[in-house]
Amino acid sequence: MFEGKSVVLGVTGSIAAYKAVDIASKLTQRGLAVDVVMTKAALEFVTALSFRSVTHRPVVTDMWELSSEFSVEHVALAERADVVVVAPATANTIAKLAVGIADEMLSCIVLATRTPVIVAPAMDAGMYSNAITQENLAKLDSRGFTIVGPAHGRLASGLVGMGRLVEADEIMVNVFQVLARKGDLADRQVVVSAGGTREPIDLVRYIGNRSSGKMGYAVAEAARDRGAIVTLISTVTELPPPAGVEVMQVETAHEMRDAVLKASAAADVLIMAAAVADYQPAQVVERKIRRESETLNLELVKTDDILSEVHGDVIKVGFAAESEDLIDRATEKLRNKELDLIAANDVTAEGSGFGTDTNRVTLIDRQGRVEELPLMHKYEVAHHILDRVVVLLSPSQD
Ligand code: CTP
Repeated sequence: MFEGKSVVLGVTGSIAAYKAVDIASKLTQRGLAVDVVMTKAALEFVTALSFRSVTHRPVVTDMWELSSEFSVEHVALAERADVVVVAPATANTIAKLAVGIADEMLSCIVLATRTPVIVAPAMDAGMYSNAITQENLAKLDSRGFTIVGPAHGRLASGLVGMGRLVEADEIMVNVFQVLARKGDLADRQVVVSAGGTREPIDLVRYIGNRSSGKMGYAVAEAARDRGAIVTLISTVTELPPPAGVEVMQVETAHEMRDAVLKASAAADVLIMAAAVADYQPAQVVERKIRRESETLNLELVKTDDILSEVHGDVIKVGFAAESEDLIDRATEKLRNKELDLIAANDVTAEGSGFGTDTNRVTLIDRQGRVEELPLMHKYEVAHHILDRVVVLLSPSQD
């Protein structure tokens, strides 16, 4: 997704500097070119070699080092970067950035760059709560810097308080959000539903299904990474809530209906990846049903078809999990529910369907065009779907 984008990762002299190695590694694994710039103090905590080993790129440690690729043209790094991240950022570096002191390569770059800067503070709780640090952070914030953290927790001093560097994943999400500002779904409102609904039978039992929610979560994350403002309407799943996405939790088909109708009223796109119950118990018993009679009949009534109820100027994408007649059934759903696109998958195929990390789907559009995708990770499937959504959103489609 962000292949070839360039990140400058500034590392300053905090005990949390070793965690920046993990951040550098993760960003590199996602295809980004990571140029690490270390302050002198950072070198007291961790070696440049660690960063060089994970990024496979030279590490900048000294502005006056003539053999360094960037030594003379230090501004080149500032210009080339798509995003600058300072993690961990000490109170000292934050103070320098706030007043524009440029006495090291990192502070020079931050002063020179016109790209977004993310600052992840890490320091002792006393230093963090000090009004001077707070003022400096507020100043950076007002100048458009993104401040991430710090987190509350155990600090190097042994005390517990505010000052821990946030987790690598939180920094990653912020980096992706910055990069996504130029994405092809920038500022679009995308609503995604995920998971399997639960229809209560009595106080303790419900009718559920085997949907893990993974496909819907992948769609939400992929849309976020392309710059969309994402609302994820999810049932209870075992998945962590994706960062940078608004999550609304629902349980039943009826709750999902209400949430989807409300959220999609102002949305550009609705992608229904949830496995919605087709039937719900006619009555919910408000106690635990006892094991008394030999047989027990449950009367079920049809739930509302959510997708069919959504009208208006919104691109509608559905999923069809089928066990037979894949294309015909999916096409029928596309027509009946008036969808723009449907992603059909054969739940009996290996590597596809419930609970897996991969999926093999066939995309069918209104014109009857059928695109069979190979087995791939659900996040990649999501991007294929969104590629089509982007085309549908383009003005030439009006
Ligand atoms: N869907 C919906 N509301 C429902 C049931 C399903 O909006 N009450 C959506 C699903 O989220 C999915 C699409 O409709 O995007 C197709 O769901 P599926 O369960 O495959 O189809 P059904 O319409 O329920 O038909 P059937 O179960 O008979 O195959």
